[in-house]
Amino acid sequence: MDKLIIVGEKKLKGTVSVKGAKNSVLPILAATLLSEEPSTLKNVPCSLRDIQTMMRILKSLGVSIEADSDTIRVTPKGYEGWEAPYKFVSTMRASVCLLGPLLAKQKRARVSLPGGCVIGPRPIDLHLKGIRAIGGEITLAHGYIHAKAKVLHGTHVYLGGSFGSSVLATANVLMAATLAKGTTIIEDASCEPEVVDLAQFLTKMGAKIQGIGSKVLEVEGVRSLHGAEHAIISDRIEAGTYLFAGAITRGDITVRHARTDHLGAVIDKLREAGVQITEEKGGIRVQTPKSLRPIDVTTLPYPGFPTDLQAQATALMSVTDGISIITEKIYPDRFMHVSEMARMGAQIVLEGPSAIVKGVRRLSGAPVMASDLRASAALILAGLVAKGKTEVARIYHLERGYEKMEARLASLGAEIWREKEK
Ligand code: EPU
Repeated sequence: MDKLIIVGEKKLKGTVSVKGAKNSVLPILAATLLSEEPSTLKNVPCSLRDIQTMMRILKSLGVSIEADSDTIRVTPKGYEGWEAPYKFVSTMRASVCLLGPLLAKQKRARVSLPGGCVIGPRPIDLHLKGIRAIGGEITLAHGYIHAKAKVLHGTHVYLGGSFGSSVLATANVLMAATLAKGTTIIEDASCEPEVVDLAQFLTKMGAKIQGIGSKVLEVEGVRSLHGAEHAIISDRIEAGTYLFAGAITRGDITVRHARTDHLGAVIDKLREAGVQITEEKGGIRVQTPKSLRPIDVTTLPYPGFPTDLQAQATALMSVTDGISIITEKIYPDRFMHVSEMARMGAQIVLEGPSAIVKGVRRLSGAPVMASDLRASAALILAGLVAKGKTEVARIYHLERGYEKMEARLASLGAEIWREKEK
């Protein structure tokens, strides 16, 4: 296992590029199973662990895959598999988005139930409700979802839950509905850019979808889909993480391929804090004064502030004068990073789903442990600004969603390197 060592207090300067969105690639790879024709995906961060896992699952289903550093060619011709086993799903919850396409194409699917997660409870009731509504017969037994259907049929389905819309439940029902008989209306669909990207890929495959990007999707089922070529949208969470890296180090960096239209809520909050954000050709520049103002942030479904940047925002608040508040409305328990940041001197009190953050002058470097993907990123940001040396252990979490983060930060002037954990 590797750890990252960071010697903090270096202002970041320069340009960094982000690649395609992991959370777009995963459902889009699942969507390639809806046809037996080859599809090609470009701008894919192929080395990410979650993407490698999804490619392994597809291979286990009988699909042939060729990948280089940023392109994946998928050839599903004649694949016969219909199961996503526990050994894969236990390492990556997103595998649940295979349920819709496998059921639609193979008329049956067996997908392991995802189980617990460090960011809090993550039920799948909305996935099951949506799939049942369009005619999937589902039973849960021995830790697996067993689904079958002679014919999937169009219907009206409301997919909102207690915490709003669900990204992957929308993806699952949308994918299954493309091959259903008749028209499916999905109400309270997710509007996340990754769902839009999936819908655009499906459209290229021949699916008929109206309302893309809105809360109501209308899908007219077709008999069959064909292969397609698609360039994945850039990763707004990776981009947002680098914007926070620029801000926390009071730096001046440009994030290439970052899209202002996908980061509205984040840019708004950074500006409120006093960070100067400029849209540049092909990217976003962040320039930061010495002193920032405290902010209040609430995470919400898109276009609200993303939960996947909550931990990074908390890191910035921890070194911003005054009291900031961040409220988590998607995963109320997603605060594992807080106790680790406290080890670095952050002053954060948890009150239900809110963190009340009293900014300190300086964090102090310490050994800390990453608990999940975004918490890892947040601890690295804290390390970049802390006095002295920070060691972030268990960075295998980071490798699920950030490609070569330490090299990218080093290219911006950070003192950061990787070592083997003893
Ligand atoms: N929810 C339910 N029932 C369901 C499904 C979800 O109550 O059947 C709840 C969840 O517990 C949560 C809310 O609905 O409170 C939203 O969860 P959602 O289903 O949208 O999450 P997801 O689709 O499983 C994706 C991303 C997550 C990201 C969330 C929220 C992928 C592969 N994952 O998960 O990304 O946090 O949407 O935006 O797209 C990450 O990249 O670090 C990550 C965790």
